[in-house]
Amino acid sequence: MLLIAFAVGKFAGERIIMKASSLSFQAAVLLVLAGMVWGLQMAISRDHAALPAHAHLNLLGWVSLFLFGFYYRLHPSLDRSRAALVQVSVWIAGTIVMTIGVGLVHTGREAGDPLAAVGSIVVLAAMLMFGWLVYRCERDPATGRNAIMPAE
Ligand code: HEM
Repeated sequence: MLLIAFAVGKFAGERIIMKASSLSFQAAVLLVLAGMVWGLQMAISRDHAALPAHAHLNLLGWVSLFLFGFYYRLHPSLDRSRAALVQVSVWIAGTIVMTIGVGLVHTGREAGDPLAAVGSIVVLAAMLMFGWLVYRCERDPATGRNAIMPAE
């Protein structure tokens, strides 16, 4: 959440908006560190009850987020857009809420159920938004030309 708050920052007295890819990469590293510490805690305690939450945190918070970052980095105009920044922020918030909910449910606390449900819907909404951005970008010759292509 702190990272999202920092997404709109101040630099040399000038207001700058963090790029979507930059937010993706930085948040992904923080989330996977949390996921790895959680994994170690599960391994050391030999209590793997929270496995589904650990797996979701790492796959949504590390793998997917990093892939979003790659896509945005390849499309500089999209990377600077507010829509992409919102998409990444919503994904991060949904991942955190869903992970907490799934973790609570799988450690016997039913109170986590609504959190898991809300988090799932939020990440689904963020993926739909990403899909919309991808289709819009891929079908628009102007943004297509703006894409960074690998060297032949
Ligand atoms: C310090 C690093 C990590 C440790 C110590 C760790 C530890 C664990 C442990 C103890 C389990 C439960 C295994 C079981 O009960 O069968 C597990 C499951 C899992 N972890 Fe990790 N993990 C780490 C990093 C990661 C990362 C980086 C990812 C994803 C990119 C990941 C994805 C998963 C998945 C998908 C499962 C579920 C596997 C299954 O259902 O068979 N883990 N991890």
